[in-house]
Amino acid sequence: MDTAIFNLTHGLYVLTTRLGEKDNGCIIDAVMQATAMPQRIAIGVMKHNLSHGILAASGIFNLSILTEDTPQKVFQHFGLQSGRDVNKFEKCDEVQRSANGLYFIPKYTNAFLSGKVEQSIDLDTHTVFIASITESRVLSDGKGITYNDYRANFRK
Ligand SMILES: Cc1cc2nc3c(=O)[nH]c(=O)nc-3n(C[C@H](O)[C@H](O)[C@H](O)COP(=O)(O)O)c2cc1C
Repeated sequence: MDTAIFNLTHGLYVLTTRLGEKDNGCIIDAVMQATAMPQRIAIGVMKHNLSHGILAASGIFNLSILTEDTPQKVFQHFGLQSGRDVNKFEKCDEVQRSANGLYFIPKYTNAFLSGKVEQSIDLDTHTVFIASITESRVLSDGKGITYNDYRANFRK
């Protein structure tokens, strides 16, 4: 098996979740539009991630769509450490809450979507959550970063 799967064009996103008083966020790329009318998306989340347990329990999330100017530190902060070990929002002042009460990331993003889980597909290591969109907002006209941009710029 070579790296052909990475030639699929994916964006990169901050998936934010909340359970009780615990806010968390992680980077994901496994996102697709499932249906346009009504609006539904599918997201793939590793069971090992803290975000998985929170999302499975709460059933709601936000997805902030990252732009090309996103610095590496954002990927490191949300994607290379777990909310089990750190409070990822302790020093984050550039966050806002959407109508569902969850954080979204207003900087380095061009839009956010709020999702409500309708179905879950168990894929052993991961769960694919199918969600309806309950709120969405365009935040800028910045171009979305792709996973290939990330691999080319940050994974040398
Ligand atoms: C570029 C990039 C893409 C990622 N894509 C996914 C993904 O699609 N799904 C997923 O579950 N985790 C993905 N991850 C891994 C999670 O972001 C990572 O495991 C994170 O530390 C989980 O944090 P948590 O334990 O606080 O939820 C990705 C990480 C990076 C850096």
